[in-house]
Amino acid sequence: MEKKQLDWSNLGFGYIQTDARFVSNYKNGAWDEGAVVTDANIVLNECAGVFQYAQTIFEGLKAYTTEDGRIVCFRPDLNASRMADSAKRLEMPVFPEERFIDAVIEVVKANAAYVPPFGSGATLYIRPYMMGTNPVIGVKPADEYMFRIFVTPVGPYFKGGAKPLTIKVSDFDRAAPHGTGHIKAGLNYAMSLHAIVTAHEEGYAENMYLDPQTRTKVEETGGANFIFITKDNKLVTPKSDSILPSITRRSLVYVAQHYLNMEVEEREVLLEEVKDFAECGLCGTAAVISPVGRIVDHGKEICLPSGMDEMGPVTKKLYDTLTGIQMGKLEAPEGWIKTIL
Ligand code: PLP
Ligand code: COI
Repeated sequence: MEKKQLDWSNLGFGYIQTDARFVSNYKNGAWDEGAVVTDANIVLNECAGVFQYAQTIFEGLKAYTTEDGRIVCFRPDLNASRMADSAKRLEMPVFPEERFIDAVIEVVKANAAYVPPFGSGATLYIRPYMMGTNPVIGVKPADEYMFRIFVTPVGPYFKGGAKPLTIKVSDFDRAAPHGTGHIKAGLNYAMSLHAIVTAHEEGYAENMYLDPQTRTKVEETGGANFIFITKDNKLVTPKSDSILPSITRRSLVYVAQHYLNMEVEEREVLLEEVKDFAECGLCGTAAVISPVGRIVDHGKEICLPSGMDEMGPVTKKLYDTLTGIQMGKLEAPEGWIKTIL
């Protein structure tokens, strides 16, 4: 298979249309068998549920080329089950989890020429999503749905790659208590757009959202969970019912405990205690681990001791171990790596 001629090492996090995508439709209570198609466009009725009441959910995972030339993806079973949770919360039918994994494999195979080469720093981002497609005008769930997966080769989510970021404590809330913060619904991201545009205008890379009820606890950013490293090398990560259960964060907890022999605390993290941590990072499929060097809280600066020049040493170890597992350089825990080709 001949790779596409792309400038792999200079890709940003953007959309590049590839050759193939997967589509399956749900009608009369059942999913059809689905197919890989070439058309990247979708034609829907003006009154489709997705347009009127934002009935849409999505997932994000990546495929990698390993050092020995295989194409693999990372823990797709967890994306399948999180998408099932998202579907249930938005009254959408579940796309069967086994079929989700098969469809991911099928689309990546069909786009193998777009999977960035090992060592290029780029990866293939995989975006499964689902939407209500038939007309609904009263506020109710649609009866018909479309599940699709497209892929796009991507570079780092934040410009500057692994350079520490400056973020701000946001005055906006991302998710309500007992709301939808724990699922991957498009509406959560629509909610965050004004906040991220405002943060960017002010020169910040991202927002630190606080818990909406008390505004004293750290939740997450618009697209990643937080990890903190204490001065005595513990990994601390916020626990909250209104943040997305990041697969990267759950994997890092395991990596810290089982590969790096670190103690881990998953607990409420007060904004007040952030100044005492040694390192801070944002973790997610897109973000991988992006280090944070400075957090600005209404004019008050919290400068992490790891500084603004490079990733802190413990964050770096976590980063190297996680990406080593994802790219097949280190042995993975049972079931984490799915070989596609
Ligand atoms: N938090 C939010 C709001 C996200 O959108 C994402 C991205 O998926 C994450 C966290 C990280 O989750 P994961 O590691 O499963 O990609
Ligand atoms: C991901 O990491 O997969 C996400 O969905 C985050 C998004 C902000 C790109």
